[in-house]
Amino acid sequence: MGVTVHPLSNVLGAEIRGVDLAERLDDGTIREIHDAWMEHLVLLIRGQTIDDPQLVAFSSRFGELDGAPIGATPSGKVSTREYNEITVISNVVENGRPIGGLGNAESDWHTDMSSYEEPPAASMLYSLEIPSAGGDTSFCNMYRAYETLPDHVKIRVRDLKAIHDATLTSAGGLRHGFESVTDVTKTPGARHPILRTHPVTGRTALFLGRRVNAYVPGLSVEESEALLDTLWGRATAPENTWTHTWRIGDLVMWDNRCAMHRRDGFDDSVRRIMHRTQLKGDRPYYAPPEAAPTAA
Ligand code: OGA
Ligand code: MN
Repeated sequence: MGVTVHPLSNVLGAEIRGVDLAERLDDGTIREIHDAWMEHLVLLIRGQTIDDPQLVAFSSRFGELDGAPIGATPSGKVSTREYNEITVISNVVENGRPIGGLGNAESDWHTDMSSYEEPPAASMLYSLEIPSAGGDTSFCNMYRAYETLPDHVKIRVRDLKAIHDATLTSAGGLRHGFESVTDVTKTPGARHPILRTHPVTGRTALFLGRRVNAYVPGLSVEESEALLDTLWGRATAPENTWTHTWRIGDLVMWDNRCAMHRRDGFDDSVRRIMHRTQLKGDRPYYAPPEAAPTAA
């Protein structure tokens, strides 16, 4: 049975059918999935029944895996005891301790771990238990966010960087070991170019990371806030987003280099358990293509 690719919206996203992730897929199938991923930014593979080693085995066909992030909960890491590559995303509390990160709260638009100098290239999230309502995950297309900017804004941002806050989790909680930011010019976290060349596709994307505590060095705080509001408004405009409603056994894989995501909150009395892997990434860079608009 061959792999088939079914676009999910005209913004981004495609469903891959015809694969069983519990089996080792041949190289040709992995290449087809990879190509569809690069084209559609986010892939959905439904109806899977896989364990942690199978999730790790499938994920690592696309690159080297990163360990689970540190500091998402007061207890530190949220990897499972057995697999350092698996991050648990859950609101479940066992014996007084959260088994995973993010809890039940809404998480605002973000790119995973963009405060790192070399943020993960991609994340793969597999659903084990989901609430009957809430907890949907949305994605936005950062290529299109760039492409639809007016030329004068494209030109303005081409040599600018932004600071990507390291102090807050994507659910807005203070990370273990950090203090609250009071002056955004001093936000701790990596400085990345606002325009990012995708290392595989060569396309230009906006790279914003997260809005809270962001700052564009070289601008006044007022100018930085106004510019960031413009860019974020474009990136997260409803017509630039697609929302996934989960079923058990869904694997969703997203490319952090060209898509951001957010999650709806949900009722904390119901359980949601997801296991995540992430692929190592490179340092973001911008290499202007010939066709990029220039000032004169
Ligand atoms: C993540 C994340 C969204 C979700 O794992 O990085 O943002 O739907 N998860 O749980
Ligand atoms: Mn995330």
